[in-house]
Amino acid sequence: MLHAVIMAGGSGTRFWPESRQSMPKQFLRLAGDRSMIQGTLDRCTPWIDPGNAWVVTNAVQADETARHLPEVPRDQILVEPCARNTAPCIGLAAIHLQRQDPEAVMLVMPADHVIGPPPVFREAVESAAKLVTDDPERLVLFGVPPNYPATGFGYIERGDAVAGSDRAYAVASFREKPDRDVAEEYVESGRFYWNCGIFVWKASRILDALQTHEPEMHAALQRLAEQIGTPGWQEALEKEFPTMNSISIDYAVLERERGSLCVLEAPFRWDDVGSWHAMPRLHGQDDDGNTVLGTHCGVETRNCVIRSSDDHMIATLGLDGCIIVHTSDATLVAQTDDENAIKQLVSRLKESG
Ligand code: GDD
Ligand code: MG
Repeated sequence: MLHAVIMAGGSGTRFWPESRQSMPKQFLRLAGDRSMIQGTLDRCTPWIDPGNAWVVTNAVQADETARHLPEVPRDQILVEPCARNTAPCIGLAAIHLQRQDPEAVMLVMPADHVIGPPPVFREAVESAAKLVTDDPERLVLFGVPPNYPATGFGYIERGDAVAGSDRAYAVASFREKPDRDVAEEYVESGRFYWNCGIFVWKASRILDALQTHEPEMHAALQRLAEQIGTPGWQEALEKEFPTMNSISIDYAVLERERGSLCVLEAPFRWDDVGSWHAMPRLHGQDDDGNTVLGTHCGVETRNCVIRSSDDHMIATLGLDGCIIVHTSDATLVAQTDDENAIKQLVSRLKESG
């Protein structure tokens, strides 16, 4: 049985002022009427029963998560006592699934990407699930051909084609977030994909992989698994979870695994919506190159991203290449090509209280 597991515990500083600690990117409506996390579930629920959907989040975001996803059973919204990155997050979901269904296959997804169209995504996931059914050892990743030497993604080196399968390849190597020079080499070689951060594998298999590569984390997960559904669960969770190594699944398993990784070239459109710079890609631009979300009146305004979350009128005069985002209590005005610079701004804001 295929289960959807949504990872939703990250913090999205790059969408300040709309994103805040208690309102990270997955709760924003960046691509339409539904929040990113709702979009993630919507994409799967025509063919995965919401009763087979799981979300892993943290205490601060749990209520908001439940409000966005009323169709997910409340006890399948798993609440981490602290953030330990994606390896423990996936491990936590895996022990629950494993207990319910020893044959469970997990479709692991970030909560905050834009993917489409849904039928193409479905087909790709079904192909991935078939690869796992054919060989339960497989850990299946989705690869997107890179179009610039990004340093914030994992890179998947394509190996031999999987016999009898369309667009599936063995993985020759996996490298998480290489530096700029290495990323450039990878992109030039034409042999690498970006890792989409979406995975299909058996719950039992990923637990075995954690046992191999992160034995202490696995031991803690095993102790936790014994407490699921007992009155001792919460206490055990609060004791075991913080002891786990804080590491992503990419570093913990994907970089270290040999032979069993498999990549499917993603047939769907994929955008990880990393910052306000993604808005023109998602929403297009008008004749002046502006992307306007909200109410705007401009004279000599070009190549800007302008967004107001309410009816607030933004008027601009003589601007080129700026980002303006208005919310009820804070406004961003930025002129920058550097997608990461906003992180500095947000940490400065934190320092100044
Ligand atoms: N529950 C929980 N707990 N979720 C988490 C945690 C955590 O401690 N940390 C991150 N997440 C969630 C985030 O909310 C996001 O939905 C997803 O897990 C991925 O985490 P990111 O922090 O966004 O990862 P990344 O972007 O640096 O890198 C990953 O995604 C890239 C594609 O966007 C990697 O898988 C890369 O290899 C990949 O290219
Ligand atoms: Mg990410």
